[in-house]
Amino acid sequence: MKIGIGNDHSALELKAEIIEFLQEMGHEIVDYGTNSPESCDYPTYGEIVGHAVADGEVDCGVLICGTGLGISLAANKVKGIRAAVCSEPFTAKMAKQHNNCNILAFGARVIGAELAKMIVDAWLNTEFEGGRHNRRVNQIMEIEEKNSK
Ligand code: RB5
Repeated sequence: MKIGIGNDHSALELKAEIIEFLQEMGHEIVDYGTNSPESCDYPTYGEIVGHAVADGEVDCGVLICGTGLGISLAANKVKGIRAAVCSEPFTAKMAKQHNNCNILAFGARVIGAELAKMIVDAWLNTEFEGGRHNRRVNQIMEIEEKNSK
């Protein structure tokens, strides 16, 4: 799979470990930055990766900031994005199985690298179940449609 990854300054080390992990799994990674330790604004990278996923430049995305919150909130403002913050593998699995989330987010100040890898693995290796969940995901996207100008 082609996976886009983005982060702020708080997540440089964790991102490097996650990129290595994903590459070992055979995925192609597009790194949208930041790659500088200078303090930066997470919405920039949430939006960039959100567009990369929504436009089909990559198949899905991984976003990391201090908590995973700010960067996922930014990505979720891009039409077509369903980004979920996950701090353990069960939620990550459900984020795909029931919610068909196209971006996974987590916090570099919240979880360690080994847990982050388990979360990424759970999310990537789960299929969307469809059926009644498809109806509900469509309802979410209808809310987005109704509320966009
Ligand atoms: C940066 O200090 C921090 O606010 C950011 O990484 C993130 O946690 C925001 O949600």
